Amino acid sequence: MGIVEKIATLKREKGAVILAHYYQVPEIQDIADYVGDSLGLAQRAAETDASMIVFAGVHFMAETAKILNPGKKVLLPDLEAGCSLAEGCPPDQFREFLDRHPGHRVISYINCSAAIKTMSDVICTSGNAVEIVESFPKDEKIIFAPDKNLGAYINSITGRDMVLWDATCEVHDILTTERVINMCAAHPDAKLIAHPECRGAILELASFVGSTTAMIRFTQTDEATKYIVASESGILHQMKQASPNKEFMVVPADETCACNDCPYMKLNTLPKLLQCMERETPEIILDHEVIEKARAPIVKMLEISRMKNLIQ
Ligand code: 13P
Ligand code: SF4
Repeated sequence: MGIVEKIATLKREKGAVILAHYYQVPEIQDIADYVGDSLGLAQRAAETDASMIVFAGVHFMAETAKILNPGKKVLLPDLEAGCSLAEGCPPDQFREFLDRHPGHRVISYINCSAAIKTMSDVICTSGNAVEIVESFPKDEKIIFAPDKNLGAYINSITGRDMVLWDATCEVHDILTTERVINMCAAHPDAKLIAHPECRGAILELASFVGSTTAMIRFTQTDEATKYIVASESGILHQMKQASPNKEFMVVPADETCACNDCPYMKLNTLPKLLQCMERETPEIILDHEVIEKARAPIVKMLEISRMKNLIQ
């Protein structure tokens, strides 16, 4: 039996669901029950009736699934699959930061640890950040953490002045304006689209800014036939499938390849996914109290998204 068949058999036997992010390798995306952005993945995790959730993504995503499903087994093929944003916001330092800014509400990007979620009023993703921020009164004092690029972008389009925690996604923040401009010059017929985790100067150059799902949908309906994508390489797999007659290129991280891979997302492989389903480990284990406290801001995000019709 091949690896794909073995995974399918285990999935049936164990009543498992496989949820995968767009940045996973194509082989994993192809066997997943659902492939989506962080919002879509949280929404699927919240509604699944499967008894086991196999999360092909990074640690904070699997943690979110566990927080929404405390009674279920949530597996992550490689526990080292972290995130520079979650890493860049240590809970003790964040607590001090909050103490230095009394009277502020806290909106945290889902790319943070469960401990940061326990200190937050509401969570957001790149797919609903504007709506989540706009759900607060205009004069509300707000802290936005941990992504300063996304926070600055949301400030610019909502006219807010949220206090920003200083962390970035190492995969999007590495992209330079110079590289983007050179690429646009080399491909004048291509349209630049960007994820809001990129630096502000790149977002200003882009014809479209949005979450991974939003970018894929944009390229399906937009009239252009060629795109320069300022995001992670994995997204091209679904973009090409959704628009087989269009051409897509990612902005490369450096001169060594035509790619921009997240080192954490790419820790997951098909053999590791099979092994974690066979052994039912590594499993996400969280303290009961953390789960209880972190759930409220996630549920609030899901409710606002439902009210605003942001269903992925
Ligand atoms: P979205 O899934 O919200 O587009 O975010 C991309 C990302 O970097 C996830 O880690
Ligand atoms: Fe984190 Fe960036 Fe990797 Fe997403 S792409 S998991 S934000 S480091």
